Amino acid sequence: MPTPDLRDLLGLATRLAHAAGAELLARQDQVSLESAQTKSSGTDPVSAADRASEQLIVDGLLSARPGDGLLGEEGAREKSTTGLTWVIDPLDGTVNYLYGRPDWCVSIAVQDARGGLVGVVHQPMTGITWSAVRGAGASRDGKYLKVREGRKLAEALVATGFSYLAERRAEQAEYLRQVLPAVRDLRRGGSAALDLCSVADGTADAYYEHVIQPWDVAAGGLIAREAGARTIGGPGTSLPGGLLAAPPDLAESLAGVLSRVRRRVA
Ligand code: IPD
Ligand code: CA
Ligand code: CA
Ligand code: CA
Repeated sequence: MPTPDLRDLLGLATRLAHAAGAELLARQDQVSLESAQTKSSGTDPVSAADRASEQLIVDGLLSARPGDGLLGEEGAREKSTTGLTWVIDPLDGTVNYLYGRPDWCVSIAVQDARGGLVGVVHQPMTGITWSAVRGAGASRDGKYLKVREGRKLAEALVATGFSYLAERRAEQAEYLRQVLPAVRDLRRGGSAALDLCSVADGTADAYYEHVIQPWDVAAGGLIAREAGARTIGGPGTSLPGGLLAAPPDLAESLAGVLSRVRRRVA
């Protein structure tokens, strides 16, 4: 397989994230919570704007990179014949978008057999774009990012999020009962991709979430790692279905608290 030009992949992901962001801004007045449908539960909305954004990104990828795989939250599925797969959250933060809150974004990542290669997260309401290329670092609007080291757990501002399923929320509340007294404070922004970017740019110290999907974290996870964060998640960890991201020492401390709760509630 020929080695892809990473600058081309980054350029394509960035152009499509910006175009999808413009589409979402243009559609915001035409959709509402009332006209949205629901997915995994009654609190999990999906609107015509989520679908239109995914369609725009998929059309762009199919014409620019036929043969690449596709995995999109709203249903895009294509097997890869090139070794590359695009992982797309066409609107991360749908609840915020439908309530007219600013914390929502478009998240696009390209992965190969080793994981994330390129990631782009674009927040249309502020115009900010975060991006990363594996081995080449992460940036916010072109400015190189490096996570802040040395912050203790007790001083940490921890971003988190919740599943749409009530039974998973009850489980997460158990963990938060132990985490909250151990940290500075918690933030629930409503977009996992933006939460991960906030770890990368220092507007939060850590992020963790119990149950998360690949499209929520594919781009943001790479951006956080390339900024120097450690990510912990998956089977055999303190977050088997979720993800934690923080500077290495803090990631270790937070994973320790989560493991202790896990042993207690298991
Ligand atoms: C959700 C957001 C939220 C997180 C949920 C996700 P969506 O994605 O990222 O912050 O807590 O787990 O499902 O549905 O808005 O794309
Ligand atoms: Ca969703
Ligand atoms: Ca999402
Ligand atoms: Ca989404």
